[in-house]
Amino acid sequence: MTFAALWESLLPVGRDSGTGGYRRFSWTPADAACRAWFVEAAAVRSLRTHDDRNGNLWAWWDPAVAGAAAEPAAGEGGLAGAVVTGSHLDSVPDGGAFDGPLGVVSAFAAIDLLRERGHRPARPVAVAAFTEEEGARFGVACLGSRLLAGVTDPARARALTDRDGVTLAGAMAAAGHDPAALGPDESLLAGIAAYVELHIEQGRALADLGEAVGLAAGIWPHGRWRLTFTGRADHAGTTRLAGRRDPMLPCATAILAARLAAARHGALATVGKLTAEPGGVNAICSRVTAWLDARAPDEAGLRAVVGQVVAAGRDAATAEGVDLEARQESASPAVEFDARLRDRLARALAARDISAPVLPTGAGHDAGVLAARVPAAMLFVRNPSGVSHSPAEFAEPADCLAGVEALATVLEDLACR
Ligand code: GLV
Ligand code: MN
Ligand code: MN
Repeated sequence: MTFAALWESLLPVGRDSGTGGYRRFSWTPADAACRAWFVEAAAVRSLRTHDDRNGNLWAWWDPAVAGAAAEPAAGEGGLAGAVVTGSHLDSVPDGGAFDGPLGVVSAFAAIDLLRERGHRPARPVAVAAFTEEEGARFGVACLGSRLLAGVTDPARARALTDRDGVTLAGAMAAAGHDPAALGPDESLLAGIAAYVELHIEQGRALADLGEAVGLAAGIWPHGRWRLTFTGRADHAGTTRLAGRRDPMLPCATAILAARLAAARHGALATVGKLTAEPGGVNAICSRVTAWLDARAPDEAGLRAVVGQVVAAGRDAATAEGVDLEARQESASPAVEFDARLRDRLARALAARDISAPVLPTGAGHDAGVLAARVPAAMLFVRNPSGVSHSPAEFAEPADCLAGVEALATVLEDLACR
């Protein structure tokens, strides 16, 4: 079992020495280092690698010729009936070590375990690492899997900008990847029989149940909205209160409304990113931009939460002489994972006495995007901290190994018989 060595080899990549958090943003040097790590982990295992047209990474364990090093010909990525596992390597700003990488490291470790036990795949097995899952650089969550699945327009994706105004197309080109190739890959998708993503749990459900691993039921509908409040820059020391057009005030109202609306609807709403321009201590802002992340058990609840936030922001903006533009940046509909696949995983786990309760989640995942195109399932690993998107995110080594064992069990069932 090689989990610990593989995990340790990835840990230093993209970690900030001050905060201890990860800054693995797509198409940056830290991302390039993660990609190099992936290719090396695959090479050590004689897995055939390629990056797809959207920059997602793939490492193939082929049935007959394990170790063949040739690049796949166009369309060959879509080998019939492949079982794909993996997750993502990018992070939120100052994210934890586990969100994403645990699924990729566990995928390689599960293949090691299957090989140690003498298994060979009867159908192709692939480890995938999807790019820009967090949307931390270009704003759209699960961008790599969305492009692959054809649910995001490639032209719109190319024009997305980061906080410095760099476009996705520019960042990809600078990293040596052709942005003109972005788009759905039907032949790759057509060859996938199932996608199983292992992920650290991002809450405390498994810890409260006393279980090391779980299965996903579904994902709450969620999305991101950009609220831009435009007022008038002015002097903080001379402008009378009545004469101000201060965009910070309606923004504050919208943020408080988000909390109230979420509580009212049993939902979640967060403003975790805010920019104030030009940002002088002694000046009224000309513009404030707030990014709203909202999630709810159902679509109606989500619409109600966002509607109330925008209405509160608009009323306050009107009262202050401020303009509000509310724009949806990304939408993720409710996901119910494939029940037949989940039941099959549950049976395979139960046959090895692995208990895996079925849990819903409010967190988004590439598996949720891919579920619209291929049967998808998720395994969760206990997180006793209950914390995620933070350096405090944690899983015990024994639980990580339990996750690898569970993943190897389902891969054996899906791909080695
Ligand atoms: C991803 O972690 C998300 O749910 O935003
Ligand atoms: Mn995340
Ligand atoms: Mn994740």
